[in-house]
Amino acid sequence: MKERIITSEELEDDGVVDNTIRPEVLDEYIGQSEVKENIRVFIEASKIRGEVLDHVLLYGPPGLGKTTLAYIIARELGVNIKTASGPSIEKSGDLAAILSTLEPGDVLFIDEIHRMPRFIEEILYPAMEDFTLDIIIGGEGSSRSIKIDLPPFTLVGATTRAGDLSAPLRDRFGIVSKLKFYTTEELTEIIKRTSRVLEMPINEDAAIELAKRSRGTPRIANRLFKRVRDFALVDKKESIDLDVMNKALERLKVGKSGLDETDHQLLKAIIERFNGGPVGIDALASSIGEETSTIEDVIEPYLLQEGYLKRTSRGRMVTEKAYKELNINYQGGLFGIDLDV
Ligand SMILES: Nc1ncnc2c1ncn2[C@@H]1O[C@H](COP(=O)(O)OP(=O)(O)OP(=O)(O)O)[C@@H](O)[C@H]1O
Ligand SMILES: [Mg+2]
Repeated sequence: MKERIITSEELEDDGVVDNTIRPEVLDEYIGQSEVKENIRVFIEASKIRGEVLDHVLLYGPPGLGKTTLAYIIARELGVNIKTASGPSIEKSGDLAAILSTLEPGDVLFIDEIHRMPRFIEEILYPAMEDFTLDIIIGGEGSSRSIKIDLPPFTLVGATTRAGDLSAPLRDRFGIVSKLKFYTTEELTEIIKRTSRVLEMPINEDAAIELAKRSRGTPRIANRLFKRVRDFALVDKKESIDLDVMNKALERLKVGKSGLDETDHQLLKAIIERFNGGPVGIDALASSIGEETSTIEDVIEPYLLQEGYLKRTSRGRMVTEKAYKELNINYQGGLFGIDLDV
């Protein structure tokens, strides 16, 4: 996808600031109350029992706080976190190398766990279940399998595609949590927190306005905050007020609804090329030049939640709200009906 300011995917310059504003303990983690409270209980219980925390799978669209939560879990457990990402584990040796560095109770965080090769998954099963590693050593003819004991550990996996995990892998996670888009109130709180950490005050009304335009995603809220802060600095403002906020958002071409260009492109394609739908996901993907998985995992969830898009048995359809968003005249139920039929 193109590098755009309101994409929920991580951009290169997010990194540095991300690390300073990332909440470090559960109490600072705003929203996701159900997930948070469950995890709080499981962490507490594992401490009381003196056992490691069950393996945790976190899934949901990009930028909602999976990585952040993985670090918080380790922190709350008082253990170290070792990190890896699915695509970077290519050989059984790569996984063995990571597993052999674990100390008792540690968290192993595997990001994009759905992109791990299947045969690596199979090595993970016994590691997750019995804390043992079966590896094959030696070359052809003289190879033999040996079992290595591992210290008990907690695997935290993160993915935007829970559906892509094999069933046996998914079943080995005792705790499976889905992260949701954030409400305007929650995002407002996140923005205020970021404002405190970065020491740039923001007025309540400006924070709310920014929250509304952040596509339900903390990563976008924080990224926009950084850019708006620049406008305030140049205007020599001591705090971000609604004036500078509106001006900055206009300059950054962030619309009232917070939808981005890719969202618009998708909705527009359905209206203009498919009469508003229904259209199958594959036809839609090729028409806008995106992967079907990107549509399903990144673009579509927010549009569905906010009611711009509907999923029917025959495919995706836009709603009246989509026409309004794009300023296209909505012709009610008549639109899209083939009068020749
Ligand atoms: N609950 C939260 N409270 C406060 N800030 C949050 C919260 N969740 C996320 N953030 C902020 O949003 C940023 C993005 O979060 P994070 O990197 O954890 O997302 P992610 O789900 O791992 O995304 P990806 O799928 O792209 O890896 C973080 O830097 C963090 O500052
Ligand atoms: Mg992440």
